[in-house]
Amino acid sequence: MCDGGLILHLATGSSRGIGLEIVKQLLADSSNLIFATCRNSDASSALQSLKQKGGGRMHTIQLDADDKQSVNTAARAVKKVLGKGGLDYLLINSGIVNSELTSLEWNA
Ligand SMILES: NC(=O)c1ccc[n+]([C@@H]2O[C@H](COP(=O)([O-])OP(=O)(O)OC[C@H]3O[C@@H](n4cnc5c(N)ncnc54)[C@H](OP(=O)(O)O)[C@@H]3O)[C@@H](O)[C@H]2O)c1
Repeated sequence: MCDGGLILHLATGSSRGIGLEIVKQLLADSSNLIFATCRNSDASSALQSLKQKGGGRMHTIQLDADDKQSVNTAARAVKKVLGKGGLDYLLINSGIVNSELTSLEWNA
């Protein structure tokens, strides 16, 4: 379960580009915990490298914003870490039209 006091972020499209930079900058502040999502986090060496540096403040989660089942699986994975708490910030960076993310209950 998540420790109290940290600011909780979830960013989509974090494997490269703007999303990766957002995660990098958030991770630089020790008051943040980040759920970094993309379709295949294992394929992003930059993301894996950030995770190693994150000291437990970064979780990588598989999430295809265009696939409802993937979104629901991701939501369950996040909830497992958060417990009864919710997210503070949801950063929709992947730019997918008709994303199923809009129908999620993130309990924020
Ligand atoms: N760069 C610019 O100049 C610019 C300007 C205006 C607006 N934007 C917007 O800013 C956002 C990020 O731009 P960027 O240049 O950083 O893009 P990018 O380098 O192409 O990165 C896109 C990110 O979205 C992820 N992604 C793609 N399809 C996805 C899906 N179905 N579900 C979940 N994640 C998905 C990709 O990860 P995986 O492929 O690993 O899943 C990747 O991490 C986009 O929405 C873009 O339209 C960018």
